Amino acid sequence: MEAISNTVISNQNGPHERLAETVRKHMDKPFLRPIAEHTLRVFEGIQQTLSTAERPLIFDACCGVGDSSRALAKKFPDHWVIGIDKSAHRLARERDEENPENLILARADLNDFYRLAFEAGWQFSRHYILYPNPWPKAAHLGRRWHGAPVFPTMLYLGGMLELRSNWKLYLEEFQLALEIAGHAAQLEAFEPTEYMTSFEKKFHQSKQRLWRLQAHLK
Ligand SMILES: C[S@@+](CC[C@H](N)C(=O)[O-])C[C@H]1O[C@@H](n2cnc3c(N)ncnc32)[C@H](O)[C@@H]1O
Repeated sequence: MEAISNTVISNQNGPHERLAETVRKHMDKPFLRPIAEHTLRVFEGIQQTLSTAERPLIFDACCGVGDSSRALAKKFPDHWVIGIDKSAHRLARERDEENPENLILARADLNDFYRLAFEAGWQFSRHYILYPNPWPKAAHLGRRWHGAPVFPTMLYLGGMLELRSNWKLYLEEFQLALEIAGHAAQLEAFEPTEYMTSFEKKFHQSKQRLWRLQAHLK
């Protein structure tokens, strides 16, 4: 049998000792940081596009170069697929093919975008967070999505939530955070049959084990 490597190095051996306290704090206190002007303008532009046709929403958070968003848009032609990443450089990567008409790719900070979407009453049918930055140092818990102040807002947006990672502990923590917020989730190892993202391809081809967390958010 081939060896499976795991290259995420962390000074944590298990879930962060302050995870529960951090999640509860964010559930109890509203996240009041002002919304950046750029993300507000991007959000308003997307709202305009959405108003041209009523369709269910698929949200691809941290979409990187947008491959997963493109694949989802082709798979679900009767949905809007919105891919958001804060890196203009990644989003600008050239593609040979034209983008499907139901695909919206934009640069924005999700810490703000999620709050705008919630305030505008959006509900997702599906929500993907594929290979988020792991922030493996214990001191960086607050930069992981489940340790961030925006975490409760992400859950209010609903839908079938799916996260993928090559770091099992990230998903175990996310699962615990979901449990604190009252949501059950399933965590499993998986073998991709086709690659949804460039990070998925890179991790799989370097023989890393891949993990998937799924939850149905009411
Ligand atoms: C490891 S990459 C994964 C990209 C893609 N999902 C993939 O699998 O190829 C993580 C992505 O998250 C994006 N990201 C991190 N924090 C973000 C934020 N606050 N708002 C928007 N994007 C963010 C980064 O720019 C980066 O492209």
